[in-house]
Amino acid sequence: MFKTYWIPLSYNTKQSYPNDGKLYFFDTKPQTTMKDLVRLKTSLTEEMEQILNDQIKIESNSSAKYLAMASWCGEKGFENATTFFLTQADEERAHMLKIFNYVIERGGKAVSPEVSNVRHEYDSLRELCETALEQEISVTNSINRIVEAARKTNDYATDNFMQWFVSEQIEEEAIARRVVELFDIIGEEGIGLFTIDKQIGKVRGAYAAE
Ligand code: FEO
Repeated sequence: MFKTYWIPLSYNTKQSYPNDGKLYFFDTKPQTTMKDLVRLKTSLTEEMEQILNDQIKIESNSSAKYLAMASWCGEKGFENATTFFLTQADEERAHMLKIFNYVIERGGKAVSPEVSNVRHEYDSLRELCETALEQEISVTNSINRIVEAARKTNDYATDNFMQWFVSEQIEEEAIARRVVELFDIIGEEGIGLFTIDKQIGKVRGAYAAE
């Protein structure tokens, strides 16, 4: 029967063992150093880093889409809708930066997103506003998926961080829904579109005052 001898083999440390004919086993489990502890405390899991970078891209895409919507509205003479979507584009960029900074703060690698395939053409103001609402619903779903992933991996910091976005999406969806409702409430005939444009300019303020 061999007697076993365990020798701890720490990171970057060559250890010798006696050449005495006995059987030695190396405990190759890396020893945790203070440097590792500092890194572990601040890093995200690779999976979460990827999920957050995906969301950075989604927010950036949203910003670009809203810019294009503002451009379409401006071209068609909908002044208030132009301002509305310009503000929306700014907000999406702020969301993107918020997540970007969070990834950096947690010791991860934030990736500057590429934006492509931005839609510039719409058949009507109504179609444009409905697309904006669909976009917000889709963002809400992806925010919820991040919270779900954070909870599954016990990443309480990310769960906590994302709660701001959960609340923000309630507001963003409500505003986008209200804009779409205006088309049925006011109607598009006659000066309808002019009135809808006027009301779009008031939706954000009305929501904030509630
Ligand atoms: Fe940042 Fe409107 O979602």
